[in-house]
Amino acid sequence: MTTATMDLKQHIRGIPDFPKPGILFYDISTLMRDADAWQVAMGRMTRAVAPWAPDMLAAIESRGFLTAAPLASRLGCGLVMLRKPGKLPGATVSHEYDLEYGSDTLHIQADAIRPGQRVVVMDDLLATGGTLAASVALLRKVGANVVGAATLIEIRALGGRDRLDIPVESLVSYDD
Ligand code: PRP
Ligand code: MG
Repeated sequence: MTTATMDLKQHIRGIPDFPKPGILFYDISTLMRDADAWQVAMGRMTRAVAPWAPDMLAAIESRGFLTAAPLASRLGCGLVMLRKPGKLPGATVSHEYDLEYGSDTLHIQADAIRPGQRVVVMDDLLATGGTLAASVALLRKVGANVVGAATLIEIRALGGRDRLDIPVESLVSYDD
Protein backbone atom coordinates (compact mmCIF):
# COMPACT_ATOMS: atom_id res chain seq x y z
CA MET A 1 0.00 0.00 0.00
CA THR A 2 1.39 3.42 -0.89
CA THR A 3 1.43 6.43 1.35
CA ALA A 4 -1.28 8.08 -0.72
CA THR A 5 -3.73 5.22 -0.40
CA MET A 6 -3.05 4.13 3.17
CA ASP A 7 -6.30 3.53 5.05
CA LEU A 8 -5.68 4.94 8.51
CA LYS A 9 -8.71 3.08 9.87
CA GLN A 10 -6.72 -0.12 9.49
CA HIS A 11 -4.36 1.24 12.15
CA ILE A 12 -6.98 2.38 14.68
CA ARG A 13 -8.56 -0.30 16.82
CA GLY A 14 -11.97 -0.14 18.42
CA ILE A 15 -12.06 -1.56 21.94
CA PRO A 16 -15.58 -2.28 23.19
CA ASP A 17 -16.78 -1.42 26.69
CA PHE A 18 -13.90 0.93 27.56
CA PRO A 19 -13.75 2.92 29.78
CA LYS A 20 -17.25 1.77 30.68
CA PRO A 21 -19.86 -0.65 29.31
CA GLY A 22 -21.46 0.44 26.04
CA ILE A 23 -18.60 2.74 24.97
CA LEU A 24 -16.52 1.78 21.91
CA PHE A 25 -13.07 3.29 22.47
CA TYR A 26 -11.08 4.26 19.36
CA ASP A 27 -7.49 3.52 20.30
CA ILE A 28 -4.81 5.54 18.49
CA SER A 29 -1.98 3.64 20.23
CA THR A 30 -1.80 1.24 17.30
CA LEU A 31 -1.63 4.14 14.82
CA MET A 32 1.20 5.86 16.70
CA ARG A 33 3.26 2.73 17.21
CA ASP A 34 3.44 2.16 13.43
CA ALA A 35 6.07 4.64 12.23
CA ASP A 36 4.82 4.73 8.63
CA ALA A 37 1.17 5.14 9.58
CA TRP A 38 1.94 7.91 12.05
CA GLN A 39 4.01 9.72 9.42
CA VAL A 40 1.13 9.47 6.96
CA ALA A 41 -1.36 10.73 9.54
CA MET A 42 0.77 13.73 10.47
CA GLY A 43 1.43 14.50 6.81
CA ARG A 44 -2.30 14.52 6.05
CA MET A 45 -3.01 16.64 9.09
CA THR A 46 -0.32 19.11 8.10
CA ARG A 47 -1.93 19.53 4.68
CA ALA A 48 -5.37 19.97 6.26
CA VAL A 49 -4.28 22.62 8.78
CA ALA A 50 -1.69 24.58 6.78
CA PRO A 51 -4.29 26.54 4.72
CA TRP A 52 -5.57 28.14 7.95
CA ALA A 53 -2.12 29.70 8.39
CA PRO A 54 -2.08 29.44 12.18
CA ASP A 55 0.32 31.42 14.35
CA MET A 56 -0.23 28.93 17.16
CA LEU A 57 -1.68 25.48 17.77
CA ALA A 58 -3.61 24.89 21.01
CA ALA A 59 -3.21 21.35 22.33
CA ILE A 60 -5.94 19.89 24.53
CA GLU A 61 -4.69 17.72 27.42
CA SER A 62 -3.92 14.95 27.12
CA ARG A 63 -4.26 13.17 23.81
CA GLY A 64 -4.34 16.48 21.93
CA PHE A 65 -0.71 16.91 22.93
CA LEU A 66 0.15 13.93 20.73
CA THR A 67 -1.25 15.45 17.56
CA ALA A 68 -0.39 19.09 18.22
CA ALA A 69 3.31 18.85 19.02
CA PRO A 70 4.45 17.11 15.82
CA LEU A 71 2.15 19.33 13.78
CA ALA A 72 3.48 22.58 15.24
CA SER A 73 6.97 21.39 14.40
CA ARG A 74 5.99 20.58 10.81
CA LEU A 75 4.11 23.86 10.32
CA GLY A 76 6.73 25.98 12.03
CA CYS A 77 4.23 27.59 14.37
CA GLY A 78 3.95 27.93 18.14
CA LEU A 79 2.28 25.54 20.55
CA VAL A 80 0.22 26.28 23.66
CA MET A 81 -1.22 23.80 26.14
CA LEU A 82 -4.82 23.74 27.38
CA ARG A 83 -4.54 21.86 30.65
CA LYS A 84 -6.60 20.37 33.40
CA PRO A 85 -6.59 22.27 36.74
CA GLY A 86 -3.42 22.57 38.80
CA LYS A 87 -0.94 21.82 36.02
CA LEU A 88 0.11 25.19 34.61
CA PRO A 89 2.41 27.56 36.53
CA GLY A 90 1.82 31.29 36.72
CA ALA A 91 -1.38 33.21 36.06
CA THR A 92 -4.01 31.22 34.17
CA VAL A 93 -7.44 31.80 32.67
CA SER A 94 -9.98 28.99 32.97
CA HIS A 95 -13.22 27.80 31.47
CA GLU A 96 -15.58 25.33 33.14
CA TYR A 97 -17.82 23.14 31.02
CA ASP A 98 -20.47 20.50 31.55
CA LEU A 99 -19.89 16.80 31.02
CA GLU A 100 -22.51 14.07 30.84
CA TYR A 101 -22.04 13.68 34.60
CA GLY A 102 -20.52 16.67 36.40
CA SER A 103 -18.19 19.26 34.96
CA ASP A 104 -14.58 19.82 33.98
CA THR A 105 -12.28 22.81 33.64
CA LEU A 106 -9.51 23.73 31.21
CA HIS A 107 -6.80 26.32 31.87
CA ILE A 108 -4.48 28.35 29.68
CA GLN A 109 -1.59 30.57 30.76
CA ALA A 110 -2.89 34.14 30.74
CA ASP A 111 -0.06 35.40 28.54
CA ALA A 112 0.00 32.45 26.12
CA ILE A 113 -1.72 34.15 23.20
CA ARG A 114 -1.33 37.65 21.82
CA PRO A 115 -4.73 39.16 20.97
CA GLY A 116 -5.77 38.40 17.41
CA GLN A 117 -3.32 35.55 16.88
CA ARG A 118 -4.63 32.85 14.57
CA VAL A 119 -5.07 29.66 16.59
CA VAL A 120 -6.03 26.12 15.53
CA VAL A 121 -7.24 23.77 18.28
CA MET A 122 -5.89 20.22 18.18
CA ASP A 123 -7.22 17.03 19.68
CA ASP A 124 -7.21 13.32 18.85
CA LEU A 125 -10.96 12.82 18.65
CA LEU A 126 -14.20 14.74 18.17
CA ALA A 127 -17.13 13.03 19.88
CA THR A 128 -19.87 15.24 21.38
CA GLY A 129 -17.77 18.34 20.73
CA GLY A 130 -17.96 19.47 24.35
CA THR A 131 -14.19 19.50 24.81
CA LEU A 132 -13.49 21.40 21.60
CA ALA A 133 -16.31 23.88 22.24
CA ALA A 134 -14.92 24.61 25.71
CA SER A 135 -11.44 25.03 24.27
CA VAL A 136 -12.70 27.54 21.71
CA ALA A 137 -14.48 29.48 24.46
CA LEU A 138 -11.34 29.50 26.60
CA LEU A 139 -9.13 30.65 23.73
CA ARG A 140 -11.53 33.47 22.92
CA LYS A 141 -11.37 34.61 26.55
CA VAL A 142 -7.66 35.34 26.05
CA GLY A 143 -8.21 37.09 22.72
CA ALA A 144 -7.40 34.34 20.23
CA ASN A 145 -8.78 34.32 16.71
CA VAL A 146 -9.73 30.64 16.56
CA VAL A 147 -9.61 29.74 12.87
CA GLY A 148 -10.21 25.98 12.99
CA ALA A 149 -9.98 22.67 14.79
CA ALA A 150 -8.39 19.40 13.70
CA THR A 151 -8.65 15.87 15.00
CA LEU A 152 -7.55 12.43 13.86
CA ILE A 153 -10.97 10.89 14.46
CA GLU A 154 -14.56 12.12 14.32
CA ILE A 155 -17.61 10.20 15.51
CA ARG A 156 -20.18 11.74 13.23
CA ALA A 157 -23.32 10.38 14.85
CA LEU A 158 -22.65 12.40 18.01
CA GLY A 159 -22.96 15.65 16.08
CA GLY A 160 -19.97 17.36 17.68
CA ARG A 161 -19.26 19.40 14.58
CA ASP A 162 -22.67 21.07 14.92
CA ARG A 163 -21.70 22.47 18.34
CA LEU A 164 -18.77 24.36 16.85
CA ASP A 165 -18.81 27.65 14.95
CA ILE A 166 -15.41 27.09 13.36
CA PRO A 167 -14.33 24.82 10.50
CA VAL A 168 -13.27 21.31 11.53
CA GLU A 169 -10.95 18.87 9.77
CA SER A 170 -10.86 15.21 10.75
CA LEU A 171 -8.79 12.52 9.04
CA VAL A 172 -11.02 9.53 9.76
CA SER A 173 -14.70 9.42 10.61
CA TYR A 174 -16.97 6.74 12.01
CA ASP A 175 -20.73 6.56 11.99
CA ASP A 176 -20.91 5.57 15.64
C1 PRP B 1 -11.38 12.38 24.99
C2 PRP B 1 -10.74 12.75 23.68
C3 PRP B 1 -11.24 14.15 23.45
C4 PRP B 1 -12.61 14.16 24.09
C5 PRP B 1 -13.68 14.08 23.04
O1 PRP B 1 -10.59 12.93 26.04
O2 PRP B 1 -9.33 12.68 23.77
O3 PRP B 1 -10.41 15.10 24.13
O4 PRP B 1 -12.67 13.00 24.95
O5 PRP B 1 -14.95 14.03 23.61
P1 PRP B 1 -16.06 15.11 23.37
O6 PRP B 1 -16.01 15.54 21.93
O7 PRP B 1 -17.33 14.38 23.70
O8 PRP B 1 -15.79 16.24 24.31
P2 PRP B 1 -10.64 12.43 27.53
O9 PRP B 1 -11.47 13.39 28.30
O10 PRP B 1 -11.04 10.99 27.55
O11 PRP B 1 -9.18 12.59 28.10
P3 PRP B 1 -7.70 12.31 27.59
O12 PRP B 1 -7.47 13.03 26.30
O13 PRP B 1 -6.89 12.91 28.69
O14 PRP B 1 -7.50 10.82 27.44
MG1 MG C 1 -8.89 14.16 25.30
